[in-house]
Amino acid sequence: MSEAIDRESTQAATPAQMLRGWDHLEWWVGNARASAGFLSSAFGFDIVAYAGPETGIRDRTSWVLQQGEIRFVVTGALTPDCEVADHVRTHGDGAHSISLEVESAQDVFAAAVARGATPVREPWKEEDEHGSLVRASIATYGETIHTFVERSAYNGPFAPGFTTENLPTRPPGPAVGLERIDHVVGNVELGALERWVGFYRDVLGFDQLLHFDDEQISTEYSALMSTVVWNGSKVVMPINEPAHGKRKSQIEEYLDYYGCPGVQHVAQHTPDIISTVSALRERGVRFLRVPDTYYEDAKTRVPDLDLPWDDLQRLGILVDRDQDGYLLQVFTEMIGDRPTVFFEVIQREGAKGFGAGNFKALFEAIEREQDRRGNL
Ligand code: FE2
Repeated sequence: MSEAIDRESTQAATPAQMLRGWDHLEWWVGNARASAGFLSSAFGFDIVAYAGPETGIRDRTSWVLQQGEIRFVVTGALTPDCEVADHVRTHGDGAHSISLEVESAQDVFAAAVARGATPVREPWKEEDEHGSLVRASIATYGETIHTFVERSAYNGPFAPGFTTENLPTRPPGPAVGLERIDHVVGNVELGALERWVGFYRDVLGFDQLLHFDDEQISTEYSALMSTVVWNGSKVVMPINEPAHGKRKSQIEEYLDYYGCPGVQHVAQHTPDIISTVSALRERGVRFLRVPDTYYEDAKTRVPDLDLPWDDLQRLGILVDRDQDGYLLQVFTEMIGDRPTVFFEVIQREGAKGFGAGNFKALFEAIEREQDRRGNL
């Protein structure tokens, strides 16, 4: 009896309920060795595994980078007919897979496809002396995919085909202290936001956490709308759509250069943003510039918070609050050549928002950069 009930409740579970959290993000890039070196020296990641010809992979190389719970894989093509080369030619460097850890890749894949997801790759199992790893992939916005990763029976470095031998050591530098992915943001085309929110809600079983309309997120020149969906736990995914403004919005610029919808930014949490941003700046990471006038406004927006304003202003850190607390956040310059992908560093002190109060100040800062590229 109880077995039947258990089976019934498992069958009724949505994909969202079966997600344990982020497993990794896989970036497809033009030069994986250089990207791994950049993430290691500038952002303080450790290089923890490698795959390529030396490990039996013929058409690509991949480096696995780790900091706290954050795991990135950067992959580059070795041959012109490798799918990674096509992806890079079209999009530049970008996030190919938002990979999510699950208990059973087969179950989550089957549930997602039964509810309308487009399969990209049926569940596949790989084995080596460290155990077995099962993965399966479905499509999401643009050419981005979600890969479900079942690694409970695997205790190797990352996946079969990866080695920990002869890895570069992390160059010296101050400790950065990023601890986990807070949210992953996607940009979609004009008019497509509702459809993609519908996909996450109806197909994957996500809930809507917040919505911002173009009245809330606008400047004199451009605007966007944003809806945040989440699985009720760790997987939080805001989705942006451009809105009409006097000039080209930053979302349109992204879509022009990326060529289709895709991942815009990855926010990474730190418990001490002043220490983290100081370390990143010392390592050469550059951030969006914030005008001094921003801090005059900020002090009146959050008059009761006792914050180290001089440090925040010196480091260009933004402040926002909601009914539950406050947050500190900062945005890097673009991390690749094209004006598409960047990182956010965030410290949450209770607040569950995404810095809506900062949008105007942020976009004014972004538009100054866009104007310098002649794209506003
Ligand atoms: Fe963000």
